[in-house]
Amino acid sequence: MVDDINEVLRKAPLFEALDEEDTAALRSSVNEVRLGRGQTLFNEGDEGDRLYVILSGKVKLTRTAVDGRENLLGVLGPGEMFGELSLFDPRPRTASAVAVTDSVLAGLGHDDLRPFLSIRSQVSLQLLKALAERLRRTNDVMADLVFTDVPGRVAKALLELAEKFGKEGDDGLHVHHDLTQEELAQLVGASRETVNKALAEFALRGWLRIEAKAVVLLDVERMRRRAR
Ligand code: CMP
Repeated sequence: MVDDINEVLRKAPLFEALDEEDTAALRSSVNEVRLGRGQTLFNEGDEGDRLYVILSGKVKLTRTAVDGRENLLGVLGPGEMFGELSLFDPRPRTASAVAVTDSVLAGLGHDDLRPFLSIRSQVSLQLLKALAERLRRTNDVMADLVFTDVPGRVAKALLELAEKFGKEGDDGLHVHHDLTQEELAQLVGASRETVNKALAEFALRGWLRIEAKAVVLLDVERMRRRAR
């Protein structure tokens, strides 16, 4: 655990700006959270007083409509952070966080982090950068919902997952996303049937191979062009 935390404090952009003394001070307020696959960390609407950095595993952020339908905002992996919105704007959680695979997280109390925001402008800048990136991506997702067809959105989602979780293999880029077809559809904002049809079409063209909770991208360039 201590190794994990040291590793993450060293690597996570949020903590890059801290010197050794700050890191040591902050480390004592970090707690480890272990989640089993499918376990919920918090629900949309809960009070939130901690942010989390993923040490290992994958966590999905979801919102549920009144009729029960789910929208998957994103899937985060090692080094990524979430739960910071209620740090800047103390209101209830804007999404639920659920482990997609067994996961280990480092939790950091907002109250412990807040003092660093005023004395270490680099920490504030890193948090603002993360927020800016999230806003950019959200704008892209919104524009795609209006302007891009479902196959284009599927291609884009797979490329984004590939950037985070892809591993180069002899036969292509292996993307072990760990999402069910239903979750993939929630991520793309379309029905499972339409998303399956798009995947089958890509497979037929030889652009990818479908595996259980994974895809192997065989022609990344074609996928990129389809995602435009
Ligand atoms: P918070 O509202 O504290 O808890 C839910 C978290 O989900 C939120 O902080 C953000 O860290 C994260 N989150 C909310 N919206 C998005 C989004 N559109 N993309 C990625 N992460 C998000």
